[in-house]
Amino acid sequence: MPKPKPRIVVTQPLPGGFVEKLKQDRRFVTTVYPHDYKPPRQELLRMIRGANAIITLLTMKVDAEFFDEAGRELKIVANYAVGFDNFDVEEARKRNIILTNTPCVLNDAVADHTMALMLGVMQRLAEADSFFRAGKYKEWRPTLLLGQELERKTLGLVGAGRIAWKVAKRAHGAFDMDILYYDINRDEAFEKEFRARKVSLETLMKESDIVSLHVPLNERTRHLIGAKELHLMKRTAILINTARGPVVDEKALVKVLKAERIFGAGLDVFEFEPKPAHGLTTCKNTILTPHLGSATIEARAQMAKAAVDNVVAVLTGKPPISPVETNIVCPI
Ligand code: GLV
Ligand code: GLV
Repeated sequence: MPKPKPRIVVTQPLPGGFVEKLKQDRRFVTTVYPHDYKPPRQELLRMIRGANAIITLLTMKVDAEFFDEAGRELKIVANYAVGFDNFDVEEARKRNIILTNTPCVLNDAVADHTMALMLGVMQRLAEADSFFRAGKYKEWRPTLLLGQELERKTLGLVGAGRIAWKVAKRAHGAFDMDILYYDINRDEAFEKEFRARKVSLETLMKESDIVSLHVPLNERTRHLIGAKELHLMKRTAILINTARGPVVDEKALVKVLKAERIFGAGLDVFEFEPKPAHGLTTCKNTILTPHLGSATIEARAQMAKAAVDNVVAVLTGKPPISPVETNIVCPI
């Protein structure tokens, strides 16, 4: 009897054509969930039964129950995301299941989105657009909807990883911004490249004109930015979050925005996604985007390639390319 072919389950169609190619690869049997929405939990659990490899989305909890249902043949779960807070890493380790993510390929997309939010909030773009569409533009006025410039402002990066590097490159390179950062590790290359200064979170919150979050979500970073931190910010400062919603106490942020204690916020992620905190959508100078940080044609295709490459490597007896919790250095 020939050995049965490894079974791969892809939990949603992915852009870029790489999954289609995988389906044609005769070494494997690949099943793709046919719909453009997340399978209900029970359906997901049914679908993964007996799989050797599974490609998951960041919205799927990959925990003991998931591993139990998949069964003992499961070798790898490849997240279609760089964040992997949906993974129970400890549980996977116990079972010798490899977990991978998609670092590097989305850095430019997320950095672009971060800059778009930064410029958008400083220029009050959303407010201005709503104003115009509501027919309120009657005449040019010297004081209409005044924004702020990015040139030489101070950018505080909370987390100085791969994405923060790309944000600093844009902010320092194009806008001559001063870079402060707060991180558990010192990064001398980062400091040298961008004349960046490592400071305490308190100093960063106090001195920055723009605070931008680039940490993963874990027990150390949950509610890292709460009422106390928000109240340290300058009245003219803004907060940008393209990392993970629960890093910010969103209720506290709504209060600060309502009271106009800060100039505005650009948020791509939310504490209880997809729902915004009560009152957030009526806060004035805010731009709210539905978790689109990596949503470029380029990044979403390369993320699919990365997930597929990880799966194929492991199923053909090679080491995974980007296992989670390893310090992958991106090619610049
Ligand atoms: C998106 O949020 C990702 O983690 O890739
Ligand atoms: C994500 O990959 C980061 O390190 O910022």
